[in-house]
Amino acid sequence: MKGIKFDFSNVFQPNIENGLNEDEINQYKDIIGEIVNKIIEENPGFLSLPFTRVYIDRVLDLKNWVQSFESVVVLGIGGSALGNQALQVALNPLNYNVLPREIRKTPKIFIIDNIDPDFVASNLDQIDPRTTLFNVISKSGTTAEAMANYLVARGIVESYGLDPKSHFLFTTDPQRGVLKKIAEEEGIRTLDIPPHIGGRFSVLTPVGLLSALASGIDIIDLYNGAKDMHKKVTNPNLWENPAALNALIHYLYYQRGYNISVMMAYSNKLFLLADWYRQLWAESLGKKYNVNGEVVNVGQTPIKALGTTDQHSQVQLYNEGPYDKIITFLQLENFQRNIVIPKIHDNFSELSYLGGKSLSTLLNAELAATEYALTHNNRPNLKVIFPQTNPYNIGQFFFSYEFQTVVMGKLLEINPYDQPGVELGKKVTFALMNRLGYEELRDNVEKQTKS
Ligand code: PA5
Repeated sequence: MKGIKFDFSNVFQPNIENGLNEDEINQYKDIIGEIVNKIIEENPGFLSLPFTRVYIDRVLDLKNWVQSFESVVVLGIGGSALGNQALQVALNPLNYNVLPREIRKTPKIFIIDNIDPDFVASNLDQIDPRTTLFNVISKSGTTAEAMANYLVARGIVESYGLDPKSHFLFTTDPQRGVLKKIAEEEGIRTLDIPPHIGGRFSVLTPVGLLSALASGIDIIDLYNGAKDMHKKVTNPNLWENPAALNALIHYLYYQRGYNISVMMAYSNKLFLLADWYRQLWAESLGKKYNVNGEVVNVGQTPIKALGTTDQHSQVQLYNEGPYDKIITFLQLENFQRNIVIPKIHDNFSELSYLGGKSLSTLLNAELAATEYALTHNNRPNLKVIFPQTNPYNIGQFFFSYEFQTVVMGKLLEINPYDQPGVELGKKVTFALMNRLGYEELRDNVEKQTKS
């Protein structure tokens, strides 16, 4: 069968502490059906994306230009960076940037999503501005980090006497923001971020598509995966809708005090999907609202983990710590590379059992062992299975989790699309950096920090 598979069976094991059973799930059949229909009716921007050609076509139009560079540098943060990183790591070799151009064929990709000067400088050290395209991604065009890094890159481009039009691309809101203004004034190429799609739901817009295309990823197949997943997640029948069922499972555990959702990838290539998920789940669902004058705070804390590495760091806690975690494993069935462990030291039983077996067999055996141990210790866990890392499967994953997050938002009765808690910090940064118009806020902040 094509595509990713969901395995929820361990959630329903009878011994699982606070376990769920099918009858309990069935009680939500109508509610979930209504939620799914409501989401379809509301038609949030990301939902119809896989059926929209305009964004993908505009990106494809730029293919030759973008691929003619030696390096493409993404400057963005949060929803404007995490999907890019997840796509690159999942779909290109892990050593992609160090491969020679003859093998790689397409530009090196750098994603600068922080303003740590050591990090920024070490990335910029690796590029030649004369053969680099900087893709500045910011929906608002106001985010201090993205704008600061744009100015740094612009300074370098200007110091080489290069034409900004030939080295910058702005991916931004089509109507508003300073990037749009500069682009219009200077004739810099732009890609539109659909105004009705928020940052963390934008991986399948030009935000994620451009760097994917630049590095040779088949973005049409990414869309095909999302399109096929659309059929599944818009099914109002709970048992046939993996995104809705997954949201409900997380909701029911959350109601029982499971405040933490761990996503543990047993594949380095799938690991950054967990990073992408972490933002989606945290920023969409961590909210406060008022009920009859009382403030209610909700949200489930997402944690990312890597198997087997974190078996030696986290799994003790998952097995014996508080009953507050639901764990999602990401399993990869077929790895791109195969390493067979040599048969050496056959006289030592501590080593001989490994000889002749592949590393991927060992990795997946360790996943099975961790699943078994968690289930044995009554810990809820489920699994998303990727037959391969290909654009189709990754497109399915993104789309399914975007829909799941909105279903969870509806169950929690919050708005999953906004992020008011992040906005205050952004404004205080402006005030502390003496941005015009933020004087009053700066005074207030200074008063608070002095007192
Ligand atoms: O999901 C979101 O909306 C945020 O994480 C944004 O992506 C992030 O704050 C960056 O914003 P912008 O693209 O406007 O620079």
